[in-house]
Amino acid sequence: MLRSSTDPRWLPQALASFDRVLVDHAHCEKKAASSAISLLAAFPGHSLLVQRMARLAQEEIGHFRQVYDRLLARGGCLGRDPGDPYARGLRALVRHSQEETRLTDLLLVSALIEARSHERLDLLARGLADRELADFYAGLARAESGHARLFVDLAKEYADPAAVDARLAELAAAEADLLARLPIAPRIH
Ligand SMILES: [Fe+2]
Ligand SMILES: [Fe+2]
Repeated sequence: MLRSSTDPRWLPQALASFDRVLVDHAHCEKKAASSAISLLAAFPGHSLLVQRMARLAQEEIGHFRQVYDRLLARGGCLGRDPGDPYARGLRALVRHSQEETRLTDLLLVSALIEARSHERLDLLARGLADRELADFYAGLARAESGHARLFVDLAKEYADPAAVDARLAELAAAEADLLARLPIAPRIH
């Protein structure tokens, strides 16, 4: 689904400032939960979407709790969310003219964010020297692995599958472009 691989300079930076990554990661899990709730609130008549998003919100807030507990155990604190230029850049691509295309885009943007998060959690799992922490990240990466597909499948429930694939190709190219323009930083994205 992704059109690019993470720059090899990212992992050493992330490992060197791992506590900053952990804070950003906690914010990401919190936002994954809250965006699932926003989606079910925005499309209350779409029963399958409501069911899937309710389950996802619960799973993501569970991830938040796990990451947050780690953060506290390491003496960190969450702090205010500084915002996420990556997610903001992707959301700016959502078409708002019609409900159907808006839903397609919202779901596909979420799919791409999930795919990128999964890629990076997996890189952390492989790169962390602390065995226990590496296992923790491997578990989270596994948990995230189906989420990108979940969003694409949902998009295809509510729109023509061929149109969804075509739009996904456009948005995936835009995602790769956006990531290449953003500075490499110790964050999930
Ligand atoms: Fe998650
Ligand atoms: Fe996820």
